[in-house]
Amino acid sequence: MTDTLSIDDTQDSFGLFTAAAVHDPYPFYQRARETEPIHWSERAQAWYFTRYRDVFVLQTRPDLSVDRVETLYSYLPTTDTDRFSNIIEHYTRWLLYRDGAYHDRLKALFMKAMTPRAIEAMRPKIQMRVETLLDSLEGQDQFDAYLDFAARIPVQVMIDLLGLPMSDEAMLRHWSDRCSNFLFQPVNPDREKLADEQRQILDAQQDYFIPIIRERRARPRADMISAMVQADVDGEKLTDMEVLATCNMMATAGGGTSRSAIAMALWRLQQFPDQLAKLKANPKLINLAAEEFLRYEAPTQRSIRTACESFDYEGHHIEEGQILHLMLGSANRDPEQFPDPDRLDLARNPNRHVTLGHGVHYCLGASLARMELRVALDGFIRRFPDYRLVSDEIVFMDRTASRRPTSLPVFAR
Ligand code: HEM
Repeated sequence: MTDTLSIDDTQDSFGLFTAAAVHDPYPFYQRARETEPIHWSERAQAWYFTRYRDVFVLQTRPDLSVDRVETLYSYLPTTDTDRFSNIIEHYTRWLLYRDGAYHDRLKALFMKAMTPRAIEAMRPKIQMRVETLLDSLEGQDQFDAYLDFAARIPVQVMIDLLGLPMSDEAMLRHWSDRCSNFLFQPVNPDREKLADEQRQILDAQQDYFIPIIRERRARPRADMISAMVQADVDGEKLTDMEVLATCNMMATAGGGTSRSAIAMALWRLQQFPDQLAKLKANPKLINLAAEEFLRYEAPTQRSIRTACESFDYEGHHIEEGQILHLMLGSANRDPEQFPDPDRLDLARNPNRHVTLGHGVHYCLGASLARMELRVALDGFIRRFPDYRLVSDEIVFMDRTASRRPTSLPVFAR
């Protein structure tokens, strides 16, 4: 997930790594797709795939690995890395970063807990959280639709799902933000400082979660930590540390993406007033609309893979060990797959975007993410139908691997 390449050199890799691409990557993706859709970047020492058909096919190749252990080592200071062994151990328990039998075991146990029924049971709670947040904004002329609304929903949902106290919202959000910052490595990172902070956060998480996990083993409740500790697949069970890692993975990988999806939908809708009017006139459009928001602005802009063995692909030789960036955000705007791809069309159907991945690593939070997006947008537009952006310019976090606004000030009416 390294993202340390944001520099202003438009000649390099079609400008994919420039500051301008952080703000608006789509013209750069288009140039790459049209000029060299399979591109080797000398600077990044990695392959970039920007066409839909390549991204789609490569996501399912079993000889491509999602394992991140090597990358994580490269994020640590070079001296005395043993100090940070808890970081490596923690992230090797994230099923998102694992292949093969260990991935399949964690995934099977996770799915025992995160069932369609458990997600459906979240709907009234999500609605309640969304309405309560909207109530708190009522009466204000201006507020931040990202910080005061979009960014709060996924962490509150995660708290409800895991059965944690709402008073821990700020702390849990801080942890997921900082873990995400470590995994997405800012431009010119201070490795010592970042790794030190990570170590402290992971220790604090252990102090917080392990007693809760033990308590739920002893006295299960109706929440997902209890379901995870009880999950059993052919006698296999999750260890306390695996449950802890899964909680952090859900909050970090699921939280950042979901809030970004909600905020970017509210932002983009203002650029397509005809589509906003359509949604207001027909709220039932929200399910299709949510897919279009996900296609149009993918919170995760790329999936990263490592070649387990050498292979030839479309006239290119991929060497064992080389890194492949599957550019989801670009695939979603490929005109070969989506007619008029730069147009937001809330009724677009079919809409087989790749925002939630594809194949064996398809997003396990997809139903939850969709539910959050639909409920949040529907609620927001009903409550503030005449909302407007304070400024057309929004500032994104300085990364190109994911897209996350830093704020979204709006006039309420
Ligand atoms: C809009 C919100 C979301 C987006 C855009 C998103 C995106 C993705 C993508 C692209 C992948 C595939 C990664 C790859 O192929 O390398 C993925 C996997 C995953 N996501 Fe999500 N996600 C979202 C929300 C969530 C939520 C809410 C959760 C959990 C509560 C979650 C849990 C996971 C897990 C566990 C995986 C790994 C699946 C596996 O490797 O088998 N995601 N997600």
